[in-house]
Order: sequence, then C-alpha cells, then structure tokens
Amino acid sequence: MEKFVIVGGNRLKGSIKANGSKNASLPILAATLLTGGVCTIHQVPRLKDVFVMQELLAYLGAKVTFEGNTMTVDGSKVQPQEISEDIMRKMRASNLVLGPLLGRFGHVKISHPGGCNIGSRPMNLHFKGLNALKANITEKFGYISADASQLTGTVVHFDVPSVGATENMMMAGVLAEGTTVLRNAAKEPEIVDLQNFLNALGAKIVGAGTDVIRIEGVKELGSVTHTVIPDRIEAGTHMIAAAITQGDVTVTNIIPEHLDPVIYKLKEVGVQVDVGDDWVRVQGTGQLKAVDIKTMPYPGFPTDMQSQMMALLSIADGTSVITETIFENRFKHVPEFRRMGADIYLEGHTAVVKGVKRLTGACVEATDLRAGAALILAALAGENGTVLSNISHIDRGYERIEIKYNSLGARIIRVNS
Ligand code: UD1
Repeated sequence: MEKFVIVGGNRLKGSIKANGSKNASLPILAATLLTGGVCTIHQVPRLKDVFVMQELLAYLGAKVTFEGNTMTVDGSKVQPQEISEDIMRKMRASNLVLGPLLGRFGHVKISHPGGCNIGSRPMNLHFKGLNALKANITEKFGYISADASQLTGTVVHFDVPSVGATENMMMAGVLAEGTTVLRNAAKEPEIVDLQNFLNALGAKIVGAGTDVIRIEGVKELGSVTHTVIPDRIEAGTHMIAAAITQGDVTVTNIIPEHLDPVIYKLKEVGVQVDVGDDWVRVQGTGQLKAVDIKTMPYPGFPTDMQSQMMALLSIADGTSVITETIFENRFKHVPEFRRMGADIYLEGHTAVVKGVKRLTGACVEATDLRAGAALILAALAGENGTVLSNISHIDRGYERIEIKYNSLGARIIRVNS
C-alpha cells in the first residue's frame, strides 16, 4: 500500500496545467458503446477510474487503444455481456454503461454497483427514467437487468437533478424511437460535453446545460473525434493549493466559467484571483477570512470541492459554516482534519469550522478521492510532516499529483509501506 509523506510549510509557486476531465471522460467513454464506428477521444486523463472504464469497454468486446491522452475505441465487435461484481465494484461510474448498452442492444445485465464511502448512492432515478422509455428493469441476486424491444421517447421529470441519471438517459434516448425530453436535468459542464460528443457522433440533442434536454432519436451513429473538456475539480483543487500555502500559482488549460463558484468563494475568503481566457492565477494575500459554503448542483458550489474548501477554512480567521446538501455521508474527512489540529464540529449535514492559526502534521487516511486531495492541501499548509495513507483513492482522480505539486515547490514523497 502506497502512502504520501508530506512536509508542509512551502509556498507553492509557478504554473500548472489541468488535465482533461475525469467526470466528462467516463460518460463519453461509456457512450462509445452506442456505435459500431470508431471514436477517437483526446485529452483523456490517465487515471485509475479511466483505466477501469477502458477495461470494461475491452471486456465488452471493444478494441481500445490508449496512447498518451488519446483513447481510440472501435465498437464494431461489442456485445452486451453480463458485467460481474469484480468490475462493477471497482468504480460506481461503471453504471453509465446501462443507457448505451440498452439503447444499442435492447438488453443489459450488470452487477449492482452498491453504495460507497460518501453515501448510499441509489439508482432509482436511472431506473425510473429507463422505465418511462419502456424498458423493463429487474433487480435480482445483486444484478440489475434491463430489457426493451424498442426504447420509446417520452417526457421524464427527475425528482432531483442527478448527473449520472441525466447522462444515462441522454445515452438511452439517442437511439430511442421519437423524442425524449428530460426535465429537471443536471446542468453540469460534463453533460454539455457529453451532448457535444453525441451530436458529433450523429445524435440530435439540444438543451444540455439547461434543465430541459431534448433528444430526437436517430437510427444509428457513426464515428467521431472529440476533445474532452478540462477538469474543473482538479483545477479547483490546485487553486486551493495556492491559496492555502499563501502561494502564487497559475492554473492553465481551464474553462474559467466552469470554476465561477470556486473563484467567487476564494475572492470572498480574501485570496487574489485573476482570470484569463483559459487560465486563472491565484495569489495569497496574507489573509484568510471565514465564509459559509453550501454545496449545490451546478452552477452552485460543487460537492466535489467541499473537503478542499474545508481544508482552507480550517485556517481562516473566524467561524465558517459548511452545509453538504448532495451526499449524506460526505464529512468523513472531518476526524482526519481534527487529527491535524482543526477545530470542526458536526451537526447533521453541517460542519462548523472554527479557524485555527496552524494545522499540524499527523498520520491521516484518505477516506475518499476528494477527501484525500483535501488532506494533501491541509498537509501542505501544516507544520512538520504528514503521513497520508490510502492514497489509491487519490490516484482515481488526480494523475501523479505529487509530481505536479513538487514542481511548484511542495515536498511530497510517494512511499511503499
Ligand atoms: C457525479 C460525479 C460526482 C459528483 C456528483 C455530484 C461522476 C462520475 N461523478 O456523481 O463526482 O460528486 O455527480 O455532483 O460524474 N440520486 C438519487 N437517485 C439516483 C441518482 C442520484 O437519489 O438515481 C441522488 C444522490 O444520492 C445524490 C444526488 O442525487 O444525493 C446527486 O447524485 P448524482 O448527481 O447522481 O451523482 P453521480 O452522478 O453519482
């Protein structure tokens, strides 16, 4: 098991490039299953979760190559094989194959992906939507089966705007007969990227980025070359790395408007943020003020940035209140922060963070992907050394983060315990 040994105290300075988005790549790679053509996808990050999706596509019969950051998927030989627990349990986003396999083959059977560290993560909205398209879903012996002789478009109203359910329904609707309308759809930038990918492949979708998405079914799809959008969560994490170390870091290869909620909160905290066309420069000003945060679906403050922001606010002047509204169990990092000297108490879905002067190094554990990133940030600002274990969570979403941060002056060593 690998660990990070992190010596805090250095200001991060320099320039760092964000990779392509993990959360845009995963649905786009799943969407390649809709076509027998060839999809060439650029700016795909080399991350553990992406490798799992690559394995899954290959298991289903796709011919996949992944060179540098370009993945090519030839879907001509794909078959809707049953997907067992071994693969499904590696990554929840494997459930994104449901919509495309059902759309193309009329049948899919996958092991239930189950809950995870941040919540129970039900799939009722995926099922409700697919049922409305005239698919028959059964859940038995830990497996989900979906069958439809012909998916048929209709209006689907989501109870809550789920990213995954919106994506699965977009992919299911592409080859359905007639028009599918998704209301109260999620509006995340990754959904717009999926729409752009699918339309370039021959689909007819409008409305992604708003809460109503309209999909006119088509008979078949072709081949495509597409470049994935930059990763706003990775970029946001780097911005906080600059702020928490009172550093001066320019993050390049970003779409600044995707980061608006983070940019505005950082300014409120007292950090200097300058924004260019495809970059953002974050400079410490010597002051960090407490602010309140409430996680919301896009364009609200992202739940995937909640723990990183908590790291920053744990050393801000005053008391911040952080409310998590998306996932029911997303404060597992709080006891780890407390080990580092943070003063945080929990009241249901709310964390009350009383800023302390300094965090101190400790032995801590990454409880999930973003919590792991947040602990790196806390350790960079902390006194002495921190030993961070369970870093395989971090490798799911950040490509060799220690190399990037060391290039900015951090001291992080990956060790094999
Ligand atoms: C995606 C992101 C994840 C991010 C999350 C919220 C990917 C691969 N993952 O996850 O990083 O944290 O969006 O921005 O893109 N819900 C239901 N029923 C459902 C589906 C969801 O009640 O059928 C609820 C969830 O429990 C949660 C909320 O809806 O409370 C949002 O979840 P959702 O948007 O579906 O998250 P994911 O797509 O799993």
